[in-house]
Amino acid sequence: MSAVNKFLWWQKGVIYQIYPRSFMDADGDGVGDIPGIIQRLDYLTDILAVDAIWLSPFYPSPMADFGYDVANYTDIDPLFGDLDDFDRLIEQAHNRDLKIIIDFVPNHSSDQHPWFIESSSSRANPKRSWYTWRDAKQDGSPPNNWLSVFGGSAWEWHPPTDQYYLHSFLKEQPDLNWRDPNLKEAMFEVLRFWLDREVDGFRIDVAHFIMKDPELRDNPLKPVPSSDYHKSLGDYDSQIMLHNQNHADIHPLYREIRQLLEEYSSDQPRVSIGEIHIFDWHEWAEYYGQDLDELHLPMNFQLLGIDLQPAAIQKVVESMEQAIPPGAWPNFVIGNHDETRIASRRSEPEARLSAMLLLTLRGTPVMYYGDEIGMREASIPPERLQDPWGIRVPGLGRDGCRTPMQWTSQSGAGFSAAGANATWLPIHENYRKTNVDDQLREQGSILNLYRQLLSLRKSAPALQVGSFTQIKDVHEGCYAYKRSVNGSSTYFVMLNFSAEKLVLNISQPEKGRLRISTLLDREEIVDMANLHLRGFEGTVIESIA
Ligand code: GLC
Repeated sequence: MSAVNKFLWWQKGVIYQIYPRSFMDADGDGVGDIPGIIQRLDYLTDILAVDAIWLSPFYPSPMADFGYDVANYTDIDPLFGDLDDFDRLIEQAHNRDLKIIIDFVPNHSSDQHPWFIESSSSRANPKRSWYTWRDAKQDGSPPNNWLSVFGGSAWEWHPPTDQYYLHSFLKEQPDLNWRDPNLKEAMFEVLRFWLDREVDGFRIDVAHFIMKDPELRDNPLKPVPSSDYHKSLGDYDSQIMLHNQNHADIHPLYREIRQLLEEYSSDQPRVSIGEIHIFDWHEWAEYYGQDLDELHLPMNFQLLGIDLQPAAIQKVVESMEQAIPPGAWPNFVIGNHDETRIASRRSEPEARLSAMLLLTLRGTPVMYYGDEIGMREASIPPERLQDPWGIRVPGLGRDGCRTPMQWTSQSGAGFSAAGANATWLPIHENYRKTNVDDQLREQGSILNLYRQLLSLRKSAPALQVGSFTQIKDVHEGCYAYKRSVNGSSTYFVMLNFSAEKLVLNISQPEKGRLRISTLLDREEIVDMANLHLRGFEGTVIESIA
């Protein structure tokens, strides 16, 4: 077996996140849908050549949090299509060897889910304990000081039954109680439902939230409110999140979920990816499981908030490698539907360097739709704001990174026949210039950079699964590393994060073949002892034996 063959698809491959509302609208109602994704499969498998797509939620939902409030875990919202469309997507994707990962939202359902409607109907209802209900304190205040990530108390008073219920996010998203065995079994059934439909894995929403302190103790206050997280979370930052998330009991539960996945994995390996917003490396790494028996990939968000400088990147890479258990597989993320678009967080040359970094580090890259064309954060007029968080806490909204995909320069950006003014969020005004069609024609576009990186990665076992060795002391502005694996070419990645021109001296090998420059204007044989990098240029160089 060659070195690369013993690795699984989710280790070798690249995952591309699709926000279904915004990828492609096939029925012209201004909202993307599953038939739209099917129409764009060529783009995913032939133009980009990614290996898997992760779909943000498409379940029936009142859309209080745009699908992260699920009203039925085993169906499709009519806005996106139906189960037949989903089955067609699976079939057609699998025919192209494209894997499908779906979002699983275990921490909370919608308040319109029949389970919550039952649970809230009376204190005696058998599903009462499927959610967390508590009496008020004597003075009528909530049972503890826990806060909702989206602002305010995590408790909502429910007058008909005279109790509070817990919601870590919106009040329309009551938290499910995984300590109730019947709820747990019902959620396992949900996983089986989709595994039977041949999904290749799950991205688990706020995976670290599903087990809380059973005694519901108050969180301690932070001595000085500060953010562990790259994006300020407002008043949520005032507490140490000790008791409302990440309880030790979460680990046995993920072991069970992993076992369930393993039952389905003999012929088709399935993957579990956890959205874990925990920034202590050790606590984060625990989600792999000591014996690698929990999540396959706890998502690593640590590249998102750092200064894009060699020292900071090195710290992330080294801390991650030190923290993960032996044999665990890394992953990296530079954008998603909750973050400011990378093209707006970084300069254009830095966005290109980030693309090269993401696709050549050791570990699975997770891309976000539209980043490959440098889609920018859109500024949304107040009357068109959609994200409830942004409406409630100005500045924290996530609409700007969720705007429709820009396919063409035509009206509606090739996203929707509804036209530019009728899409659910406005199309970024730069779509006439920033779009897939034009960038495919423009040799030096960021899209062509992504395509070259993806294609080289696919052909180069060292980049997919090879070892990672940092090349130290090259220059303080340059982050440099080597990827190699027995039996195939070694690659040197040299990323100049400074504006200066650099002349670098790599002692071994003597010569290399420069395969990709982030500026896409050179492919040449280079002298490794006299290697020139322009300001903010990144290169991937194949060693010449
Ligand atoms: C996750 C999702 C985010 C959602 C939240 C609540 O953080 O990525 O979009 O609002 O969970 O479900």
